[in-house]
Amino acid sequence: MLSERMVEALNRQVNREVYSAYLYLSMSAYSTFKGLKGFANWFMVQYQEEMAHAMKIYDYINDQGGQVKLTAVEQPPTEFGSPLEMFEKTLEHEKFVTKCINDLVNLATEEKDHATKIFLQWFVTEQIEEEANDNNIIAKLRLVGKEGKGLLMIDKELATRVFTPLAASNETQA
Ligand code: FEO
Repeated sequence: MLSERMVEALNRQVNREVYSAYLYLSMSAYSTFKGLKGFANWFMVQYQEEMAHAMKIYDYINDQGGQVKLTAVEQPPTEFGSPLEMFEKTLEHEKFVTKCINDLVNLATEEKDHATKIFLQWFVTEQIEEEANDNNIIAKLRLVGKEGKGLLMIDKELATRVFTPLAASNETQA
């Protein structure tokens, strides 16, 4: 049984996860347009992951007898600059999501809602991985700078990422 406040907060997070998916889909489209197929693949997998995050919360609200209420999804940007700038924006966005997850945990704690607190632990761990993945790619992009060969090597590496449906573990790969 979820409180009204908690249902509202979880619904807000569904919207944020769908927005995240939309943002990364936009980055994928941008990468394709720029001829960076590996980057496009990485962001397409990220889009799928974010939709899975949204659905995980969607299912949880339903399982707890709450009402899922979908709201308008904000339009994402369509221009992202260099690959480095794109990943810096990704990290910045993930830091925002981490803060939102922490706020949800704080609310669950305040409301002594142990079930939601346990449910949210998965997202707490996931956010550590998400930020680590972005930091890892940012470090590589800084290393190669504007050097085309290095960039193409990273593009090749990012092309290997595959979407794995959410399991019990927090699987993401850079
Ligand atoms: Fe669903 Fe990237 O956090």
